[in-house]
Amino acid sequence: MTSLRAFTCDDLFRFNNINLDPLTETVSFRCRRPRGRRPRGAPQYGIPFYLQYLAHWPEYFIVAEAPGGELMGYIMGKAEGSVAREEWHGHVTALSVAPEFRRLGLAAKLMELLEEISEKKGGFFVDLFVRVSNQVAVNMYKQLGYSVYRTVLEYYSASNGEPDEDAYDMRKALSRDTEKKSIIPLPHPVRPEDIE
Ligand SMILES: CC(C)(COP(=O)(O)OP(=O)(O)OC[C@H]1O[C@@H](n2cnc3c(N)ncnc32)[C@H](O)[C@@H]1OP(=O)(O)O)[C@@H](O)C(=O)NCCC(=O)NCCS
Repeated sequence: MTSLRAFTCDDLFRFNNINLDPLTETVSFRCRRPRGRRPRGAPQYGIPFYLQYLAHWPEYFIVAEAPGGELMGYIMGKAEGSVAREEWHGHVTALSVAPEFRRLGLAAKLMELLEEISEKKGGFFVDLFVRVSNQVAVNMYKQLGYSVYRTVLEYYSASNGEPDEDAYDMRKALSRDTEKKSIIPLPHPVRPEDIE
């Protein structure tokens, strides 16, 4: 039986089979940075990056393991944002399922777990960034109740640090956002330096 459990440090040495997919965000997303500063070509998802998530948001880092011990997929996220401004929310930083374990409902299950955690933490919504060209993922998120909140221009960069692709910031309102204000789409695109 598939087990869904907390990701551990040891899993960092075992999850390459999941991370090898080029659409799995491991190096190409631009970190949120102060306005005007645009570092080029710096990979964001090294071991320290994952350890930071394990240290700060261990409950948001979940892995699916096959009966034989092979890792099937994982989700990594965090809780962030201002409560006063009703922006406290769960964020999906990475979600990936190894090719041989796709279409089994794993991603949907992992998303459900992250949403449950975000509900318990009193989040107003869950959000994520996805490449506009990643139609499989965009459609899956729509299927799971997410909608495009805004487009972030040149959010992703190529390995040489040059702008590569825009992102959709997709959101799903949680029960605390009774009026679903958090998912009213922005009428215009934004730039990475403009997002918090
Ligand atoms: C996107 C991804 C996470 C989906 O994982 P998955 O475990 O196969 O997804 P699920 O089985 O939970 O699918 C849930 C629903 O999404 C849709 N879906 C998922 N993959 C699909 C595909 N290849 N084609 C069409 N629909 C698809 C379906 O509606 C599916 O429900 P159904 O199987 O009952 O029809 C996986 O393809 C992946 O890891 N891709 C590479 C990394 C990536 O793109 N991550 C997201 C970046 S933000």
